[in-house]
Amino acid sequence: MQHAASLFGLKEFGNIYTRIMNPTTDVFEQRIAALEGGVAALATGSGQAAQFLALNNILQAGDNFITTSYLYGGTYNQFKVAFKRLGIEARFADGDDAESFVKHIDKNTKAFYLETIGNPRLNIPDFKIC
Ligand SMILES: Cc1ncc(COP(=O)(O)O)c(C=O)c1O
Repeated sequence: MQHAASLFGLKEFGNIYTRIMNPTTDVFEQRIAALEGGVAALATGSGQAAQFLALNNILQAGDNFITTSYLYGGTYNQFKVAFKRLGIEARFADGDDAESFVKHIDKNTKAFYLETIGNPRLNIPDFKIC
């Protein structure tokens, strides 16, 4: 009982509710984080959900992000249509060309988005995570 109270009181880290975390997804997330050199990972049910969560946590209405024009079609629609409805502007660079990303930056730019293996071109943009 005390253990459950601590978990739900957010006094102790652990599994509370399977949508948020469970032992199976925890193993998966830890392995993805290790593979990618990240501090943590979050598993989602689809790529579109992952994109929404990642960008929606960084951006708010009035912000923009810059993305490659080499995008999976569903992602293009999510960025161009769905994010626009939320007041978030996707600015499309010319392919993976770094200079064309730079020229779209302004004070409301909060993120860059690339596909690290692009669909459908299988392009691999040249960038470093810092
Ligand atoms: C590069 C890329 N990003 C995102 C997605 C979207 O993933 P999902 O269909 O799981 O939402 C896809 C789907 O094929 C993809 O190829």
